[in-house]
Amino acid sequence: METQPLTIRSFGEDDRAAVKALWQVCGLTVPYNDPDADIHRAAGQPNSDILLGVSPDGRVGATVMVGHDGHRGWLYYVAVDPALRGQGHGRAIVAAGEAWLRARHVPKAQLLIRETNTGVRDFYAGLGWAAIPRIVMERWL
Ligand SMILES: CC(C)(COP(=O)(O)OP(=O)(O)OC[C@H]1O[C@@H](n2cnc3c(N)ncnc32)[C@H](O)[C@@H]1OP(=O)(O)O)[C@@H](O)C(=O)NCCC(=O)NCCS
Repeated sequence: METQPLTIRSFGEDDRAAVKALWQVCGLTVPYNDPDADIHRAAGQPNSDILLGVSPDGRVGATVMVGHDGHRGWLYYVAVDPALRGQGHGRAIVAAGEAWLRARHVPKAQLLIRETNTGVRDFYAGLGWAAIPRIVMERWL
């Protein structure tokens, strides 16, 4: 079957249900992160956005949340509809996130992989990403 590229565009309010459903089916929704709050904080902001890969019939097939603090850029919620995987959409949505950061002159992009999802490391390695020896610390505020 011929692979249709997804059109990349920013999140709009009408996409909310589809985006949340995609994150859910991709296993990216966890009890300690409210997707509505994440969308509210990130979508369409000066330093962050949610980019979507949309199929010709208007369905949301891929997402990436991007943001930066002026020093580092971050990718979150990298997701491709299970029915559309293996067709280059993951590569394309990560590239879109990188391009968003590059356009804002952010020199470095980072992302976190959950301990339960380390298999995806090879996906990023294939796209030129490298694991770095750091300890990530956090505190809930
Ligand atoms: C990871 C994910 C985004 C990949 O999407 P995809 O559309 O299948 O990826 P692509 O088709 O663009 O794959 C690009 C390359 O990575 C490879 N690849 C894809 N998934 C891989 C994996 N899990 N492990 C190793 N390589 C992988 C592909 O074979 C392809 O290689 P090629 O260019 O040499 O042919 C998708 O599997 C997904 O949504 N997973 C669940 C959510 C998730 O874990 N997100 C990451 C959170 S950190």
